[in-house]
Amino acid sequence: MRRTVLLISLIVSLASLAACGKKEAHDSKSEPVQTATKPDPKSFFKPLAPVEVDEAKMQLGRKLYFDTRLSGDGTLTCASCHAFDKGGADGAKVSTGINGQLGPINSPTVLNSHLNFVQFWDGRAATLAEQALGPVENPVEMGAKWPEVVERLKQDEALVKEFAAFYEDGITKENVTDAIAEFERSLGTPAPFDRYLEGDEDAISDEAKRGLEVFVATGCTTCHSGEGLGGTMYQKMGLVQNYFELRGGEITEADLGRYNVTKNEADKHLFKVPLLRNIELTAPYFHDGSVDSLDEAVKIMAKVQLGRDLSDEDTKLIVAFLKTLTGELPPQASDPALEGAESEEG
Ligand code: HEC
Ligand code: HEC
Repeated sequence: MRRTVLLISLIVSLASLAACGKKEAHDSKSEPVQTATKPDPKSFFKPLAPVEVDEAKMQLGRKLYFDTRLSGDGTLTCASCHAFDKGGADGAKVSTGINGQLGPINSPTVLNSHLNFVQFWDGRAATLAEQALGPVENPVEMGAKWPEVVERLKQDEALVKEFAAFYEDGITKENVTDAIAEFERSLGTPAPFDRYLEGDEDAISDEAKRGLEVFVATGCTTCHSGEGLGGTMYQKMGLVQNYFELRGGEITEADLGRYNVTKNEADKHLFKVPLLRNIELTAPYFHDGSVDSLDEAVKIMAKVQLGRDLSDEDTKLIVAFLKTLTGELPPQASDPALEGAESEEG
């Protein structure tokens, strides 16, 4: 208990330090909420920074992202569960993999996923490239074997040529996932909130601005701050009140979160704090996909993470703020095969 409290206050002070965007040591301003001199709510966040990618390699990764040859029976692509018309997720409680099998957990968005400090709900992959190795061989996702996939891709002369331009060793699983990761890094979605942070006062509504203040004052920024409004730490789901009792039902293996990786008791029910960018588009919510409405997800968060009962009005304001995080998709977030004018050679 004590340790958790300490940890939280540490995180709060770290967050307020980081939010200043300056490296120099700070004086005594580490109590962000409920002081006479409230910090500027903007100071908890950072506008989305553009990411430099190699355009041609990104386009190669884009093709692979939409390539059914990465799945065991040629029916699935990454986009099956991370669709760009569904906010980079799949809109389902849990994902459906090869042969219609239901997976154990909700699909997170690929949009802005480069902002995550680790990948997956339980952080079991350190990088996007490492992450992309997983779904291909996962028996309830794409259900393939990498050697088969690599052999299949090598039959495609145009693709072999394209890989040769970037990789001395041609088509390998590492190079396939490296290219996919390059594509994923290009999937940042600048939003009205970014324009607001950059000084355009009219970029978001007054209601959203009030929602931002409630979001900060309630303490959501303890975990959801910075560029992605999440993606920087693990936290317990149900920090101050037991979420799983509230939800009901059996505790599943997926509910154990980070514990599945470390087998450390203290890591039970810890999850990577998810990004809140595009949250409006990626219902249902939470790792178990158990909540359909964003209003309800916000109320549950306030209750189980912060011990606060939010009024309907405050909930509505926070949701209005969260909607300003819905960004613009970059043009490459679409299936290249559907682009009539695809080049023959690639
Ligand atoms: C059958 C559905 C399915 C397919 C196909 C699939 N994914 Fe996923 N993806 C998921 C699910 C479910 C998770 C969450 C799993 C977990 O955390 O344990 C996930 C997690 C991720 C994450 C981590 C995001 C985060 O916030 O941690 C990324 C990135 C990702 N997938 C990219 C890909 C790529 C690239 C491919 C293709 C190579 C792919 N996925 C194929 C369902 C799928
Ligand atoms: C102590 C850390 C912490 C605090 C404080 C916190 N959250 Fe969260 N938030 C999390 C974690 C961890 C998850 C993922 C939980 C899960 O899926 O089981 C999450 C998930 C969410 C989700 C669902 C994301 C998704 O992709 O499904 C929303 C929405 C959300 N939080 C909003 C808020 C709001 C609004 C507040 C303030 C009222 C808040 N959070 C406070 C840690 C926190």
